[in-house]
Amino acid sequence: MKQLSIKAYAKINLFLNIKGIRDDGYHELEMVMQSINLYDNIKISSRKKGINIETNSNEIPVGKDNLVYKAAQKIMGKTNFPKGVSIFIDKNIPVAAGLAGGSTDAAAVIKGMNEFFNLNLEKDTLHDIARQVGSDVPFCLNPGTAYATGRGDELKYLSPIKTYKVILVKPPVMVSTKKIYEMYDKSNYNIEIPVKKLLETIKNQRPLNIKDGWANVLEPVTKNIVKDVEKIENILKNKGFDFTLMTGSGPTVFSLVDKSRKELIEKTIKNWQREQDFITLAETI
Ligand code: C5P
Repeated sequence: MKQLSIKAYAKINLFLNIKGIRDDGYHELEMVMQSINLYDNIKISSRKKGINIETNSNEIPVGKDNLVYKAAQKIMGKTNFPKGVSIFIDKNIPVAAGLAGGSTDAAAVIKGMNEFFNLNLEKDTLHDIARQVGSDVPFCLNPGTAYATGRGDELKYLSPIKTYKVILVKPPVMVSTKKIYEMYDKSNYNIEIPVKKLLETIKNQRPLNIKDGWANVLEPVTKNIVKDVEKIENILKNKGFDFTLMTGSGPTVFSLVDKSRKELIEKTIKNWQREQDFITLAETI
C-alpha cells in the first residue's frame, strides 16, 4: 500500500454541561457527542524522515501548531519509528467551529499511522495518545454516539440514535475554545440540563425533543460575543426547526431534523440569505 486514505468525521454536541473546574484547570464536562457524516479526508504516506503536512485549506497551520503534527509526533515517540510521514489534509469541516475538525484529523492520523505502518499499538495506547493531543480526540477515534465525562475524554458509547438530518450553519467568525471557557467561568448563566433523563431518552431510543431540555451551557456565553449565533438560531427556529442548538464552544449552529422534512431542509439551504455563512447538510452516523 502506497498511501492510506481515511475519513475524519465531524461531531456535534447533543447537550453539553459543565460540572466544575478540575485541579488540572480543565472543566469537568458531561455531554453527548454525536458523529456526523461531514468529513475531512486524511491521506497518509511514507517519507524518508520527519513530518510533512500539506492541505488544500488556507485556514490551518501546516507546522507544529497543527494537532495532526502533535499526533504524528506522539505516535513516533511511542514506537521505534524508522522513517517519516507525509500527511495530506483535504479539508471540508469548517475550522474553529465547534465541530472538532482539528481533533478528528488528529484522531485519523493516530489510527491511520497505526494501520499504515503496522505499528500494532493497542486500543488503550491509542486512546492515551489521543487524550494527550486534545480532549475531543479520543471520541473522534471511534465515531458514533457517546456520553463523555472528565475533560471529554472518558467515554461511554451509547446505542446509536436514529438517523437525523443535520443542518449546519457557521457564521463567518472563529471563536477560541479557551476564551469561551474563561468567559463561562466569569459568567453566571444558569441552565439546568436534565442529564439523566436525556441519557434515558437515547437509551430507550425515543425521538429527541428539544422540550426535554437538550441544551449547551456554553451557548449564552458565545452568543454574547457572536450575535450571529442568535440570529441564525432564530431563522432556523422560525422555519420550524425546533431542535436548534450551538455545538461545542461554537459558533456553529445545528438543527437536528427528521428525515421526512427533506424538502423543507433543502429549500432552507438553497434560499439561505446570509451569504457569508457556511451552510451545509449532513446526517448523524
Ligand atoms: O483539550 P483541548 O486542547 O482541545 O482544549 C482546548 C481548550 O479548551 C483548553 O485549553 C481549555 O481552555 C478548554 N477546555 C476546558 N475543559 C475541557 C476541555 C477544554 O477548559 N474539558
